[in-house]
Amino acid sequence: MAYKRIIYCSRYIEENKIENIFSFLKKARIYNESVGISGYLIFCNGLFLQIMEGFAGPLEDLMSKIEKDKRHDNIVFLDSKKIDTLSFDNWNMGFTDISRDDQSFELKKKLFSISKQEVFDPSTLSGEQAFEMLKVASQNMK
Ligand SMILES: Cc1cc2nc3c(=O)[nH]c(=O)nc-3n(C[C@H](O)[C@H](O)[C@H](O)COP(=O)(O)O)c2cc1C
Repeated sequence: MAYKRIIYCSRYIEENKIENIFSFLKKARIYNESVGISGYLIFCNGLFLQIMEGFAGPLEDLMSKIEKDKRHDNIVFLDSKKIDTLSFDNWNMGFTDISRDDQSFELKKKLFSISKQEVFDPSTLSGEQAFEMLKVASQNMK
């Protein structure tokens, strides 16, 4: 088991705007690439769901920075485990805003059928459901 995977969700602090997500993502992608971390971030109605994969050392260091980040709160860990294979290695940190009006109805339908929810509430997902949602979002990225 060479790598580690962390999946967590959190709540975006309201004063911040969606444009601010793009500015921290730009830096995040450069940093992630430099330390070999890949993953995917979903944003929906003010909530984040993120998966990160890579070597345990850099991954844990990054997670402790993210935990201290004042731009979000209510962090809930959904999965943390050793893995053999990376599942998001095409993405330094992919991103989908599911709440965007032009986001396809088909994608929303697929995602909500995995979570069996009417509204997006990632804190109630199992690690497997969260993984599946992130995978589907990454495959439908537009
Ligand atoms: C939801 C969320 C996800 C984040 N994801 C990443 C990430 O994948 N990589 C990254 O370098 N920073 C990410 N950040 C930003 C970090 O929290 C932090 O600001 C960044 O690592 C710079 O930290 P430093 O200024 O202490 O070096 C994320 C922040 C939030 C709120």
